[in-house]
Amino acid sequence: MSTIDTAATQTAMADRGLIVQLAFGSMASQTLRAAVRLKVFDLIGDGRRPAIEVAADAGAEHQPMTRLLRALAGLGLMEEHEPDTFSVTAAGALLDSGRPDSLVSFVRMFTDPAIVRAWDGLDSSVRTGDIAFDAIFGTDFFSHLGRHPELSADFNAAMSQASAETAAVLPHAYDFGRFTSVTDVGGGDGSVLARILAAYPALHGVLHDTQDGLAQAPETLARHGVAGRCSLAAGDFFRSVPGGSDLYLIKSVLHDWSDDQAVTILGHCREVLPPGGRVLIVEPVLPKVVGTGTATHAADGGITYLSDLNMLVNLGGRERTRQEFAEVCHRAGLSVVSVNPLPEAVPFYLIECGAR
Ligand SMILES: C[S@@+](CC[C@H](N)C(=O)[O-])C[C@H]1O[C@@H](n2cnc3c(N)ncnc32)[C@H](O)[C@@H]1O
Repeated sequence: MSTIDTAATQTAMADRGLIVQLAFGSMASQTLRAAVRLKVFDLIGDGRRPAIEVAADAGAEHQPMTRLLRALAGLGLMEEHEPDTFSVTAAGALLDSGRPDSLVSFVRMFTDPAIVRAWDGLDSSVRTGDIAFDAIFGTDFFSHLGRHPELSADFNAAMSQASAETAAVLPHAYDFGRFTSVTDVGGGDGSVLARILAAYPALHGVLHDTQDGLAQAPETLARHGVAGRCSLAAGDFFRSVPGGSDLYLIKSVLHDWSDDQAVTILGHCREVLPPGGRVLIVEPVLPKVVGTGTATHAADGGITYLSDLNMLVNLGGRERTRQEFAEVCHRAGLSVVSVNPLPEAVPFYLIECGAR
């Protein structure tokens, strides 16, 4: 075989490998789910343990446990040192539930049927634009969470873990010190607002969300020592947003909703915005497509585009480009003052808006 043929064969094999890997993707995520449910990362900890011991502690069978641990090794989350004895890799250690930067709740939620089932209707959502989740579950996503408090608590914890990186850098990436009060609209359990308040001791906070969204907030605010400077405001941002702040933070909320719904939420922020006040949107920003756009689409491993489809099937929302954010802001009576990437927390951006 010529050199050219060999190169062509290798490319063809790599192409096949990519398709096989992607087709097996849901098996990989369910392997993670099982490992987290069986707490194997906690059970192995930072040492080396024989699978037979891990199985006994997990209440599992030895051989199937070995197979699970080997599959996790294949995914880069374990290492097998001698036959049937395993340790956790640095990436796998993020699935130890005891770590402050643990991603256990994040994995539990994003592999849960509540998120995953609607993906079976993606082709239908692409054909019709309809929200697959609503047809499968007979209600919308957040109402479903409201009916299942344990799932809602999992969702709030998952959002907190998903936001941890952003929460750590946000206080240093934006000057919150020029405001007296910040309302976090759809602020969930308060993980992000708590970090901002902790960094700015003169700032007051208002955490706005539904009753279900706020369920874990008192504990979060107390843990960060900011409960005394933060009030809770249960409500519905489709009806109103509480007045009284000069900064309205809205993180990872607009992408849950259609353009019309995003305009309604932003419009309620605009209604209560005092002169000189700001709305600070914190979300991923899709790149503007120029030419083929191939390189930019894959910049974060395609995660933001998968998130966009996740919004389509589960919520009817969407990720947006800079131009699309400017348009919804404009329709809500706001103009974009600046757009800046958040350091170290790619692909989140800070989109600062004022009244227009
Ligand atoms: C994707 S989570 C983002 C949470 C948080 N801002 C973060 O970035 O971690 C969306 C939040 O919007 C809240 N939410 C959904 N519908 C709402 C409504 N109608 N009014 C107020 N909050 C709502 C949810 O409870 C949830 O906390």
